[in-house]
Amino acid sequence: MLLEVRHLRVAFKVDGRLSVPVRDVSFSIPEQGRVALVGESGCGKSLTALAVGGLVDRAEISGEIAGSPRIAYVFQNPMQSLNPVMRVGAQIAEGIPRTELRRGQRPAARMVAGLLAGVGLPEAAAAKYPCELSGGQQQRVMIAMALAQRPDLLIADEPTTALDVTTQKEVLDLIAGIAGERGTAVLLITHNLGLVSRYSEYVNVMYAGEIVERGAVRDVLDSPRHPYTRGLIAAVPRLDAPKDAPLADIPGTVPPPTDWPKGCAFHPRCSEAHPECASDDFNMLCERMGATSIKCIANGVSVA
Ligand SMILES: Nc1ncnc2c1ncn2[C@@H]1O[C@H](COP(=O)(O)OP(=O)(O)OP(=O)(O)O)[C@@H](O)[C@H]1O
Ligand code: SF4
Ligand SMILES: [Mg+2]
Repeated sequence: MLLEVRHLRVAFKVDGRLSVPVRDVSFSIPEQGRVALVGESGCGKSLTALAVGGLVDRAEISGEIAGSPRIAYVFQNPMQSLNPVMRVGAQIAEGIPRTELRRGQRPAARMVAGLLAGVGLPEAAAAKYPCELSGGQQQRVMIAMALAQRPDLLIADEPTTALDVTTQKEVLDLIAGIAGERGTAVLLITHNLGLVSRYSEYVNVMYAGEIVERGAVRDVLDSPRHPYTRGLIAAVPRLDAPKDAPLADIPGTVPPPTDWPKGCAFHPRCSEAHPECASDDFNMLCERMGATSIKCIANGVSVA
């Protein structure tokens, strides 16, 4: 296994109150694996990804992270991640490991040109400032910066949310193609299940700071068992639906991490909830039911 995360918990003190956006997250990423982390906004996906890379400040973090892959990130909004007053070539060069530069076979400018070519941008793009590039081109620069670090694991956190559908596909195909060629594992963070089915082999469904269902993408998408996963899948708009059919949604919203509901955190929104779901003994009941791939007492088993 390239990376194994076990019982990760990330907590903050917010205005004197305890906030635990990531409560108990375990997942693994095989060598060269393509893994997805999905869930609604505010479930703790980004924080999980940042904690895995040791990038969270002023938090109480516990749990175990086994494996030490070299990790690079591609974030949602390239304009927020790129330095607006620095030419993109210089920003890419900063990511090239010193050991690579020291080997000295090729000067940094040649390596930058190679990285730009790898993401489909001309060498001349190195001299541009980020504001002179389109959103799709900026995201390609972010991917080049990530690849400059020669990562074993690329964490792509909503990498295409800010882009139109055509550019989204180009950027994701690019990530998948390069990762495939280089044998880089990819953790794709998204709330778009369509992307999961196209770009990932394994999926972890996250709700309220926990993984509630996991498995091979085909199994989870074809036969979802957790009511939350079923809700997410039902909420994907279908082109073949009758024109006047209402769009399905999951009632309510994700609560704030200072106020996760007790028991199964999904129970206030779950159409299958019964009294034990809200009980203080919920986790104990789950543990008794065994540890496999889903955390829902109505479905009989729990996530390890
Ligand atoms: N540094 C922090 N201090 C306190 N709370 C935080 C911090 N970072 C994130 N949070 C809170 O943790 C929760 C989860 O945030 P996170 O960014 O991980 O969600 P997400 O699942 O990535 O959502 P989205 O899909 O919108 O990106 C949010 O309620 C957020 O406000
Ligand atoms: S444990 Fe209960 S509330 Fe939670 S998802 Fe299952 S049925 Fe719904
Ligand atoms: Mg996020």
